[in-house]
Amino acid sequence: MTDKLKKRLKLKVSAINNGTVIDHIPSESLFKVISILGLDKLKTQVTFGFNFESEKLGNKAVVKVADVFFEDDEINKIALIAPHAKLNIIRDYEVIEKRVVEVPDRIVGIVKCFNPKCITNHEEITTHFSVVSKKPIELKCRYCEKITHEDQMVIK
Ligand code: CTP
Ligand code: ZN
Repeated sequence: MTDKLKKRLKLKVSAINNGTVIDHIPSESLFKVISILGLDKLKTQVTFGFNFESEKLGNKAVVKVADVFFEDDEINKIALIAPHAKLNIIRDYEVIEKRVVEVPDRIVGIVKCFNPKCITNHEEITTHFSVVSKKPIELKCRYCEKITHEDQMVIK
């Protein structure tokens, strides 16, 4: 079998002409990624698939967004839930650039504060954290100043 044919068989979601392919998303984070990036509000074509085989993740999801090119700070919002996500920038059917996501310096929403007494766990307040460590992730709450560690992180 030729490499080209192998690649075609691998392509479980149609190729796109122009736009962004976000690959290597953990399947369980797919719908969170869609809502964080607001993909459900787009008027351009969005295709996705999940529970695809992946050597690295075991199981991955892919989202293809036609005609949209994300800014770094926009895409970095998914770093906590899809740390190994890879962005492929597509022009005229070719991958012209690959980018990885990076944990941003501040996190707004997405994660719950670990402190049960924190006001954000009792009132309708969006959480705000400054990232005090990226590896392992440590988030300092703006409201109670307590640190939420990576292994305590709960996604909202
Ligand atoms: N892709 C696409 N439309 C195109 C070109 C590529 O949807 N016109 C998708 C592919 O299906 C793949 C991703 O973009 O999900 C990256 O493509 P490519 O670099 O060709 O694949 P791999 O080498 O497998 O990528 P990786 O870097 O993840 O190993
Ligand atoms: Zn807090």
